[in-house]
Amino acid sequence: MNSKRERVLITGASAGIGASFARLFAQDGSDLVLVARREDRLRALAHELEATHGIQACVIVQDLSEPGSAAALVERLTRDEIAVDVVVNNAGFGATGPFADLDLERQLAMIRLNVLTLAELTHRLLPPMRRRGRGGVLNVASTAGFQPGPTMAVYYATKAFVLHFTEAVREELLGTGVSITALCPGPTWTEFMDVAGLGHPPLFDLFAMKPDRAARAGHRAFRKGKPVVVPGIINKLGTIMVRMTPRRLVPKAVRRVITER
Ligand SMILES: NC(=O)c1ccc[n+]([C@@H]2O[C@H](COP(=O)([O-])OP(=O)(O)OC[C@H]3O[C@@H](n4cnc5c(N)ncnc54)[C@H](OP(=O)(O)O)[C@@H]3O)[C@@H](O)[C@H]2O)c1
Repeated sequence: MNSKRERVLITGASAGIGASFARLFAQDGSDLVLVARREDRLRALAHELEATHGIQACVIVQDLSEPGSAAALVERLTRDEIAVDVVVNNAGFGATGPFADLDLERQLAMIRLNVLTLAELTHRLLPPMRRRGRGGVLNVASTAGFQPGPTMAVYYATKAFVLHFTEAVREELLGTGVSITALCPGPTWTEFMDVAGLGHPPLFDLFAMKPDRAARAGHRAFRKGKPVVVPGIINKLGTIMVRMTPRRLVPKAVRRVITER
């Protein structure tokens, strides 16, 4: 893996928005490092993109919710001399139900994947980017990051972390040549809903977008150096309404949106 092309590492590339990101960066002519747990899916995608776009795509199978997994991933990159120019921190999952009733280990694994791994990969991979004065990070947050989410309390809080973390680090990176962007999709047709045990709330069916569209918005915003992007007018309006609503009313309203069937 020693080409001079930009190399993009994408976590959660085996499905949904992450697989769409892989296609978009491959169309740019970037080499790829695809990371997730399902090896068959990653290999199929890597073969497809190598054949279609003449890029190199390397597959790393790793459970990024395990303690020490971000360090292990970066050690593997270092050992194999795989320099990364762009990191797309996309892997994530949610879970639905009252916080105190949900399995604790699953909630902690969610925090490790959605928050700790994202922060650690960013911390470990930013310094070489800064030294080179180029590259960047594309973090997948969510419209969930704009408010608390009763019945998905931990998931919403993890996405608030991703959003605020990204905006803060962006300010620190100004003038370094390295950029960082937060993509905040609303409901998107992926495996996310099934994994989260969310079913299909009516609002989801009404407003969900295809993963390609969400990824395209994030890819474009990242290429333009924008701090935050919320794809879709309904999602944008939602984030504005939250800011205009008295804070104490927001959890009640969000709970209705999540749980109404
Ligand atoms: N879909 C939505 O409505 C929506 C809305 C806003 C934000 N998002 C965010 O978008 C991102 C992508 O989700 P998606 O909608 O594309 O869902 P998805 O179809 O379920 O894809 C999730 C991806 O993350 C990977 N992943 C999950 N757990 C992992 C682990 N422990 N270690 C490594 N990889 C793991 C999965 O791969 P493996 O299972 O093969 O490991 C898969 O590639 C997430 O951060 C999610 O929070 C989704």
